[in-house]
Amino acid sequence: MPLSRRNFLRIVGSSAIILPATACTTSTDSARQPWQNAGQYQDPMRRALSYALLAPNPHNRQPWVVNLHGGDSANLYVDLGHLLPETDPYSRQITIGLGCFLEQFRMAAQAFGFQAEVLPFPDGYNDRNLDTRPVAHLRLTPGGQPAPSPEFSLITRRRTNRNLYQDRTPVHLALKAITRGLGNHVTSAFTNNTDRVALLQELAVTASNIEFDTPRTYRESVDVMRIGAKEIKANPDGLALEGPMLETLHTLGMLNRKSLANPHSAMFRAGRDGYAKGIKSARAFVWLSTPTNTRLDQIRAGAAYVRLNLKATGAGMAMHPLSQALQEYAEMKQSLKRIHQLLDVKDGARVQMFARVGYAKSVAPAPRWPLEAKIRPV
Ligand SMILES: Cc1cc2nc3c(=O)[nH]c(=O)nc-3n(C[C@H](O)[C@H](O)[C@H](O)COP(=O)(O)O)c2cc1C
Repeated sequence: MPLSRRNFLRIVGSSAIILPATACTTSTDSARQPWQNAGQYQDPMRRALSYALLAPNPHNRQPWVVNLHGGDSANLYVDLGHLLPETDPYSRQITIGLGCFLEQFRMAAQAFGFQAEVLPFPDGYNDRNLDTRPVAHLRLTPGGQPAPSPEFSLITRRRTNRNLYQDRTPVHLALKAITRGLGNHVTSAFTNNTDRVALLQELAVTASNIEFDTPRTYRESVDVMRIGAKEIKANPDGLALEGPMLETLHTLGMLNRKSLANPHSAMFRAGRDGYAKGIKSARAFVWLSTPTNTRLDQIRAGAAYVRLNLKATGAGMAMHPLSQALQEYAEMKQSLKRIHQLLDVKDGARVQMFARVGYAKSVAPAPRWPLEAKIRPV
């Protein structure tokens, strides 16, 4: 039976730059094992790190590497082989992901009765490139009674949800509740106003089409797609394409990196249209901005974002970051300017995260490398 474009779209569902893991199979269980293993370590440093590595991070690159020093301290480094040079040329998003990691580390330590000292960039930093210097020095000291925060208990339930969102507008109070208490240095805001949502949808679709239609930026997503259970198990990172139907298309030779990268293929169009459909299903948006755009701002934005995502999880809401309009390459220049105008973020302040929020069918957890793979000898 020939596969019509309509059928293909139905099959791939809310596929994207990133096709979501909507249906994981038992054959990829090992790629999800870190979600079960969180907290299952005696040693407090490993125990806290086992939660940290469940943090959201761009393209699920998991760019973290940890050197342990004795039982109570460690250095966090960025894996320079896991950056996104085309869509994230200054590693702003990668640094936000590292900020998410550090925040989940802090929450977990506190939940187990430890005080986590997190010293970002102890040897300094460069705002244009990340380098081999530590991203953070970590130290744990016994800190009295275990004090799990409400967000901590949601770490293993948090997801990025790229499904279509229901036609149900999140109410003002709910949006206010999730965007409150995210930290002093980061400004949070939201809208569920129909006209403003429509303008933001239009901008987000334009920006996502630019990323899809610019071969070098789209290629960066294709390069990290893991197609089918075998690839996902071998490399539990990147963007997982899975489920019985996609597995069949893969076996038939219809879904592969070549077809995904070909702008004239049904696979490519389904991805592009699916992402746009997801954006158009949004009934509300949230965003975070910082007064400047230093590495410290980005780390703080990460901490705020993961707390926002966790609070949304607690409130039964789905969240999906849409970073395209925030990216710093020539083709995106107008969209970057326009999003700051539409969100009324001025005077040199920087929008760091922009996401749709709403109600949607749940999704499976994204794959993760086990902790052991991310601990490297000094
Ligand atoms: C800084 C940052 C930017 C992101 N931008 C996007 C994006 O533009 N589109 C998208 O689908 N997901 C985006 N994500 C979500 C990641 O792809 C997601 O966190 C990762 O795949 C792991 O999945 P999980 O959050 O479900 O654990 C972003 C996450 C972070 C931290």
